Amino acid sequence: MRQKRELWKTHWGMIFAMIGTEVGLGNIWRFPYLVGKYGGGVFLIPYIVLLLGAAVFAMIAEWVLGRHTRRDPLGAFEKIKFPFGRDIGAWGIIGPFFLYSYYIVITGWVIFFIAASLGRLYFGQDSEQFFLNFLASPWIFAVHALAIFITSGILALGVQKGIERACKFMIPTLFILLIIVAIRSITLPGASSGIEFYMRPRWEGLLNPQTWIAALGQVFFTLSLGMGAMLIYGSYLRNEWGIPANALACTLGNTASSILAGFAIFPAAFALGFGALVGGSESIGLTFFVLPRVFEKMPAGWLFGGLFFILLSFGALSSAISIQEPSIAWLKEEVGWRRKKSALITGIILWAMGLPFLLNGFLVGGLGKKLALLGKMDIIIGQLALPLFGLLSVIAVGHFMRKAGYQEINKNAKHKIGTWIMPWIRWVVPIFVLLLFFLSLIKVLQDLGRIPQILPVVTMPEFQPIGITRSTIAMIITICTIIWGGFVFMTYRVITTEKEKARNKK
Ligand code: PHE
Repeated sequence: MRQKRELWKTHWGMIFAMIGTEVGLGNIWRFPYLVGKYGGGVFLIPYIVLLLGAAVFAMIAEWVLGRHTRRDPLGAFEKIKFPFGRDIGAWGIIGPFFLYSYYIVITGWVIFFIAASLGRLYFGQDSEQFFLNFLASPWIFAVHALAIFITSGILALGVQKGIERACKFMIPTLFILLIIVAIRSITLPGASSGIEFYMRPRWEGLLNPQTWIAALGQVFFTLSLGMGAMLIYGSYLRNEWGIPANALACTLGNTASSILAGFAIFPAAFALGFGALVGGSESIGLTFFVLPRVFEKMPAGWLFGGLFFILLSFGALSSAISIQEPSIAWLKEEVGWRRKKSALITGIILWAMGLPFLLNGFLVGGLGKKLALLGKMDIIIGQLALPLFGLLSVIAVGHFMRKAGYQEINKNAKHKIGTWIMPWIRWVVPIFVLLLFFLSLIKVLQDLGRIPQILPVVTMPEFQPIGITRSTIAMIITICTIIWGGFVFMTYRVITTEKEKARNKK
């Protein structure tokens, strides 16, 4: 039995929900880290090339597929007659379970660290030991269950009353808190070397193949592609909203938060003497024992630490709900369950799927071992599954929807995209992404020790501060103008266009 579908209620609500799925752990930790590691400001070049050259098109493709079919991922691929559509579409239901299962574990840690910061629990302690003790404490089970309870609860309330309302509160708050923490961070004495580490272009980064591989994984992860999330959110888009401009606005909004996150983290870390540590912290786990040291030394650090983890939890929760939604939509629309029942059952399954990660941390020895399972899952899902499955929607629109796809892209759009977009989606994006995908596959197999070292190892020279140079300032101004300026401008444009349309109708 097919039930009536909800759509996003308001345009603002839609934008916040979309930015909600995009902005998450990937923006606040992974992005700044990658920028610092792969050449400062120059990392933004591959990042923006891949973002605007490939990922945005993949996002447009997921929206097009979702809105055109008005179905969950499984139904969507079936409806457009993609070969083996049901089986392939099933990935959009199953894949997210794997992502959610570890993403929510980290979300639970974030929630714990809100309390730990506000209550100064890690102050005066060895932060690594504190984190280790936490991983081996019963708290880990409690916060995990709490995080799942929150996402399932929001989802049980529905698209408009649940997802949209929650994101309308969480996302603006996240931006405000991020601005507050960033201002605190850049006004600390000695903050400039952190700004330099983050933004000074180090051109050798561009020539390093690793930079491009990292950028590819990041753009797909950050735009929530290849996991059914964008597809299902796209299926709730109203017909009167033009897809290209809205997609660009949401993409820029997402990047705006990533850029800001770096300004919240690095200046403070360098000012308080933890620059090298933070700059070298690849694993997400390290957020939880490096940043606490920074907050411990910061004036009123318990407060700023608390605010930081609150905003991070909003980012993580608003992403997690989008990872759980595809399966709920499927159960509701294709199996005929009620939304509340679907939320409950998926919540229970997802809880059980998280247990191996919790137990791995609870029982096994040192930090490396405790996080091993989670790290492996992140590599497989984040570096490999996302780009590959993100491509499926691109192929679906480019090769199977063709004319209908092109019409859907431009439906009710004020500025229509020319027909060039079709060959671009059909050939350029897939070839480009596949090429980088094989590079990442080799890298992942190498890192996991499955194949010998084939890719050249280019180690980036260690960061040597030389002070804020003109190129650093130029980088900061260019980036902030393009990203923040673009975000504000595009959002203004899409919102006013809608008002205009509403007026014309009357
Ligand atoms: N974009 C989210 C983040 O950056 C993660 C995510 C990936 C969410 C895929 C949904 C789907 O944290």
